[in-house]
Amino acid sequence: MTKNIETTSVQQAIESRRSIRKYAQQPIDREDLQHIFELVRLSPSAWNLQPWRFHVVINEDLKQKLEDAAYGQKQVTSAPAVIVVTSDMEDVLANLTETVHPGLPEERKEEEVATLSAFFNGMSVEDRGQWGLTQTNIAFGFLMIAVQGMGYASNPMLGFDQDKVRELLGLPAHVKFAGILPIGKPNSEGHPHHRFDLNKIVAFH
Ligand SMILES: Cc1cc2nc3c(=O)[nH]c(=O)nc-3n(C[C@H](O)[C@H](O)[C@H](O)COP(=O)(O)O)c2cc1C
Repeated sequence: MTKNIETTSVQQAIESRRSIRKYAQQPIDREDLQHIFELVRLSPSAWNLQPWRFHVVINEDLKQKLEDAAYGQKQVTSAPAVIVVTSDMEDVLANLTETVHPGLPEERKEEEVATLSAFFNGMSVEDRGQWGLTQTNIAFGFLMIAVQGMGYASNPMLGFDQDKVRELLGLPAHVKFAGILPIGKPNSEGHPHHRFDLNKIVAFH
């Protein structure tokens, strides 16, 4: 970790997080952003494949185009930064040696690369793209909590035209979107939590 920052507890971050759609008009501290990504980098993924890739949009012109692609949802330009969370399994597959733990003996590394390669090459690009998305969604969750813990607010969004955003960022067709996340200091409170009772969503066996 590069910076020793006063963060909230995990419980506070989870309890206080709400979708915020109006933000204070001040830029995000670059070091804070760096720290947020240092935390998100630690998200877990199956076989440690880490398919998540993050595009931080701060350019006003590009944010306006993103907002248009998000059917005019105004939180996109209200926020000083918008993080586009994508998943790129083709990049993972092309660079499998990077994901294998450096501490493994050489022959074990080769074995692991061969196993992973056989597994994912047996799937279509679309199916492994969807598989990668299940992993990237974990990082999306971590990202929201890290942002909140660092004193910022956010709004997860899937309401956007993926083809348009793909074109705006120049992303290849195989890249999947977990969502976009406007972030910044909040300038509104958001809605109170409305959630199912535990007895609907939790079963003990
Ligand atoms: C994957 C995902 C996509 C969402 N898409 C949008 C969206 O496009 N626009 C929006 O205003 N809110 C969006 N939301 C926010 C939800 O409406 C919100 O999380 C939910 O109502 C619970 O409220 P809270 O986030 O304030 O706790 C999305 C949330 C998630 C998790």
